[in-house]
Amino acid sequence: MTPQKPNSSFIYTFNYDYHHEELCKMECRQIFGPKMTHKLLFSDLKIDPSISPFIKSRLDIITSSDDYVTFLSRIKDQHIELHDFTVEYLILKGDTTQKPERREKQKDIGYCIEGRPDFQHPVITYAVCYYEGMWHFGVLHKENAAWHKHRQKPHSFSNSIGTIIAKTLVTIASKGVASSKLLDACCGVGTVMLEACISGIHTDGCDINVRAYQHALKNLAHYAYTANVYHSDIKDLEQKYDAAIIDLPYNLYSVTTEDIASHIIAATAALSNRLIIVSIADIEPVINAVGLQVVDYCTVVKRGKSFFTRKIWVCESSHTQDH
Ligand SMILES: C[S@@+](CC[C@H](N)C(=O)[O-])C[C@H]1O[C@@H](n2cnc3c(N)ncnc32)[C@H](O)[C@@H]1O
Repeated sequence: MTPQKPNSSFIYTFNYDYHHEELCKMECRQIFGPKMTHKLLFSDLKIDPSISPFIKSRLDIITSSDDYVTFLSRIKDQHIELHDFTVEYLILKGDTTQKPERREKQKDIGYCIEGRPDFQHPVITYAVCYYEGMWHFGVLHKENAAWHKHRQKPHSFSNSIGTIIAKTLVTIASKGVASSKLLDACCGVGTVMLEACISGIHTDGCDINVRAYQHALKNLAHYAYTANVYHSDIKDLEQKYDAAIIDLPYNLYSVTTEDIASHIIAATAALSNRLIIVSIADIEPVINAVGLQVVDYCTVVKRGKSFFTRKIWVCESSHTQDH
């Protein structure tokens, strides 16, 4: 009998398009620390898969074994008695088990559970998977794709950030902690705020432009979310936050002046020790001049009428904030 894989209560599975690979890996580093490989990660950290645009599922491991017979007897030893369950087969990298055999394994496990299955409307989904010589069994929690509805938000403008990046910014800022208090310092029409709201993460927004401010309010109201939006220069806010996101102003033809970037970053740094900064210009010298430390960085290439690259910096300051 082989002991269970140590320090691994959960298996997370990920999916991303190739141009989001760097972004997904940065999100993973910021939440979990260890690197994700083969689009999966073993971790002891429990987070809601729906908080990330890239996490597809979390398997809460109940038992594991490298020997299939032992594996089944360990599942039986759990004495699981309930109705309306289903068992899925999670295919992980390197698992060459063919479909008929996967079906058999699902059945084997179903027989280890006392109760009536319900494949259409299960109240609980169990899963079996095989990775690097070990069988794992547990409860499967899948992502909730409800956030995709934000793509149809009533108000948008050309500078609005995409929903996938917006959602990741919230995850990176909060490190997956739902009780975080966030600020979107240049909220525009509230794209980032919508992603925080659907995850139940407190976020305030601020924008100097009255139309952006009004559109942010309307977008939030459209989905019945409640959040504070300030029509203000960020320099006039006083509350402190666990983390702040800054999607710096730009347009595709003239890069934001360093003065504006410096003003916004310095004012936001006075409100939070952790800043996630997005820009299409290389403003790292400005970040350093403000006294922030870059702790992580990635780029996302956007394909549209023209190619351009968004740069994302995770910054921290050693200044103590009163939260
Ligand atoms: C790139 S846009 C943000 C877009 C936003 N993430 C969205 O998806 O709608 C930058 C925003 O920064 C705002 N802004 C510029 N200077 C500001 C300041 N000093 N304080 C607050 N907001 C400011 C602009 O009005 C603009 O809406």
